[in-house]
Amino acid sequence: MKKLVIYDSQYGNTQKVAEAVAKSISGKLLCVSDTNTTDLTGVEILIVGSPTQGGQSTQNIQAFLGSIPGGFLKNVKVAAFDTRFSENKVNFALKILIKTIGFAAPKIAKSLEAKGGKLILHPEGFIVKGKEGPLAKGELERAKKWINL
Ligand SMILES: Cc1cc2nc3c(=O)[nH]c(=O)nc-3n(C[C@H](O)[C@H](O)[C@H](O)COP(=O)(O)O)c2cc1C
Repeated sequence: MKKLVIYDSQYGNTQKVAEAVAKSISGKLLCVSDTNTTDLTGVEILIVGSPTQGGQSTQNIQAFLGSIPGGFLKNVKVAAFDTRFSENKVNFALKILIKTIGFAAPKIAKSLEAKGGKLILHPEGFIVKGKEGPLAKGELERAKKWINL
């Protein structure tokens, strides 16, 4: 079964989660900047991960998702994850802001479904301690549990 994990990462944290996820499912790992839609040919499970930036996935991930032709993911099982701040570790104003603008994973999941993909897992967020990381303790283990297909 062809399994593919596509990610973007500015500071390396999402890459670490993507590596753990790809390893867990024995899937291929590709950075979005090295990916084009032909890489999706024959893929049966597609997982997309991005840092949350301004409540969304990165421009690269959005452009990639936008480039997938309509219906192209029919019969493909899909899942999405992001990395993000903890709502509990920021001040009140920022907490309200980040809750209001949301996170990347649910939006990626919606895009994948809009292209015909079948969502097989709830979109998940993994916590970074600061803008540049590191990942909070236990998050890589949580990622492996999340993807336990
Ligand atoms: C420009 C910018 C905007 C960000 N916006 C958000 C946000 O809206 N919500 C959030 O939880 N984290 C936000 N963050 C924190 C990122 O999610 C964090 O930098 C990311 O998880 C680190 O992953 P990476 O190492 O793969 O780049 C932002 C970070 C940057 C640099």
